[in-house]
Order: sequence, then C-alpha cells, then structure tokens
Amino acid sequence: MESRLVARVRARYLEAFGEEPEGVAVAPGRVNLVGEHTDYNDGFVLPMAIDRGVAVAFRRRDDERLRVHSDATGETWEADVGSLTPPVYARWSDYVAGVAWAMAGAGQPVGGADLAVAGDVPIGAGLSSSAALEVSAARALAAAHGVCWDPVGMARLCQRAENEFVGMACGVMDQFTAACSRAGQALLLDCRSLDTEHVPLPESAAVVVMDTGVRRSLARSAYNERRAACESALASLRRVEPGLRALRDVTPELLAAEAPRLDPIARKRAAHVVAENRRPGAMAEALLTGDLAAAGALMSDSHASLRDLYEVSSSELDRVVQLARSHGACFGARLTGAGFGGCAVALVERDAAEALARDVERRYRGGMLASCFDCRPAECAHLV
Ligand code: GLA
Repeated sequence: MESRLVARVRARYLEAFGEEPEGVAVAPGRVNLVGEHTDYNDGFVLPMAIDRGVAVAFRRRDDERLRVHSDATGETWEADVGSLTPPVYARWSDYVAGVAWAMAGAGQPVGGADLAVAGDVPIGAGLSSSAALEVSAARALAAAHGVCWDPVGMARLCQRAENEFVGMACGVMDQFTAACSRAGQALLLDCRSLDTEHVPLPESAAVVVMDTGVRRSLARSAYNERRAACESALASLRRVEPGLRALRDVTPELLAAEAPRLDPIARKRAAHVVAENRRPGAMAEALLTGDLAAAGALMSDSHASLRDLYEVSSSELDRVVQLARSHGACFGARLTGAGFGGCAVALVERDAAEALARDVERRYRGGMLASCFDCRPAECAHLV
C-alpha cells in the first residue's frame, strides 16, 4: 500500500515541479484503541498507527519559498517561510505552513522547499489525517534542511502547529503516534510524562476500522466545549484539593464525594475521563497476556461512556459498533478519535476480520455508506 502512495506522490511532484523529488517522507494515520479524550487531561492513551497515511515528496530550495502541491485538491499553495504567521488561513495548507512556522520558531534552520502531498487515510474521519500531514511535512522539511530528527520533540512541535497555527486545541496523542509508533505494536502513552510502552498486537487479533461516512462540521467547537467542561470540573475539584494538576489526578472516590456539588454536565464529562483513564493500562495488560475478551470489553465500556457521559457518539457510530459487536468474532468495538462522526474500531479474530468488515458494510444502511477495512499496526514517520 505504501509503495503505491509513494509512486503517486512522486508522479504528482514531477507533474507540479517538472523534476524528480529529492526524497519522500511518509507518516501514518492512527486509530485509538482506548483512552479517548484523556490526552488533554494529562492522562493515558493506547493508539495504534495504521498502514494508511500521508506521503510528502520534497526537494530543498535555496531561497525562502515554500511551495506545496496537493494531490487531493490539485492546488499549489506558496509563501515565504519568514512570512508565515498565525492566525489561520483555514486551508489544508495550514497544516504544512504551521509546521514550517513551528520549526522556524524553535530555531531550526528550516528554509524553502517544494513539496507534493498525497494521502490514503480518509480526511476528517477521525483517523488523524491532519497529524499524518503535519508529521510527514516535518519529516520532509527536516530531511531537506539537515535538521536532526527527534521524534518526541517533533511531535510536540507539530502539536504546537495544530494548536497555535491551525487553531485546534488538540492533545498530543495523534502527533505522538505518527512520530513514535512501531510496526506491529500499539503505543501506551502517558500524556503527562510522555513515557511510552510499545504493546504488540497478538497475532490472532485484527483491528477493523469502520468508517460511517459521516463528517461533522461542528466537531471543532464541540471538541473545545468538552475541553472547557473538563477545565470547569477541575476548577471545582481544586477547591477541595488544591494540588490537583489535571483530571488525571482525580480519584473515583474524590469524584463520587464531590459529585453533588459539581455542575451536572461537568460531572458527566469528568466521570468519563476518570474511568477512561484507567482503561489504556488495563487494555495493554490484556493484550500482553492475550486476553482478547478482556481487551474487547474495555473497548465496549469506553464506547458506552463516550456515548452516555461524554456525549460524543452519533446514531451512525452507535449503529456500526452494534453491528460489529453482534458478530461472533468481535471482542469489542468503540468509536475512535474525537467522535461526533467519523470512524469506529473493532477488535476481532484475525481470520474473521474480512468477513466481519463485509458484513458490517452490507448491514449498515444497506451498504450505502460505510467502508470497513482491516488495518495493521504501522511504523512511525520515516523516509523512503
Ligand atoms: C482528537 C485530538 C486528540 C484527542 C482525541 C480524543 O483526535 O486530536 O488529541 O484529544 O481527539 O481522544
């Protein structure tokens, strides 16, 4: 799959700029197995990079000009690196421009480049196409200008680009996964310390992505509202325990004791985060011991919590999750990513993955919209 994407981006580069690129960088999209809306609460997540992503073909320029050609839109956007400043142009090119801006802001010797971008991760589906674009652009710009590649530092810079240039207040999970994951393994990440543990996916298991085909235009404001509700719950709990740094530090006991005094919405959001934060470690343990039933049960509990307490599911997501779970080979399923639309993910028996994917597609609204595919845990950003 990657070789096809690389051939496409090379061809696009040649068409757009009339010569061969110097190299190609690729970064993966991701699914999150469990640990949703915990990253910006300093908590734990268990994502897995997938074998679909974004490729950036590049050639260094000796001036300041950054020219970026998109395979998806056919457009070429350009500007001088030194002239890039937020706020936001609200375009696809912001992700690349933001990365160049963040790298330059961190004192890295980044200059002009010609870039062509192509991807095979569905856009806006909750599979982190934007983080894949940011991290592949960073990898390409770093290679073009001889900047030493530090995956953790670059994940942070790409998050900064998204927060401050694109204007999306995301946590670090997506950029970190694109920059630091390993083939064959999920990534247990502590979003406070950035400590990681690579967790092999058992041979007998497969992960199926189920795209509802629904994209939500209000996802950004709904996401920011959820963050604000977490801040509000934290502020109330700090009146009792001033030392709390984030919802990650709140115990179920403290939350239960203070629940009557919390605003009802903030209470539900915090209840999700406090319970969800324990699931990534538990699921990593279940995968390590091969207890797929326990791993799947954690995913299904997470979905119920996201639906009922965090309120980020949708009728379409609930439907694909229910269809997957009604299949005998499914251990568990849940929405993945921010929610509101996009994709769900199921943990299933490897031998039945293809049959389950086709079955869900057929039964979901008569097979009109859903597209399901089996994905493999992929390698982080690299040069080819
Ligand atoms: C989006 C954000 C992530 C994370 C998830 C929800 O994917 O980019 O940082 O907050 O939503 O878990």
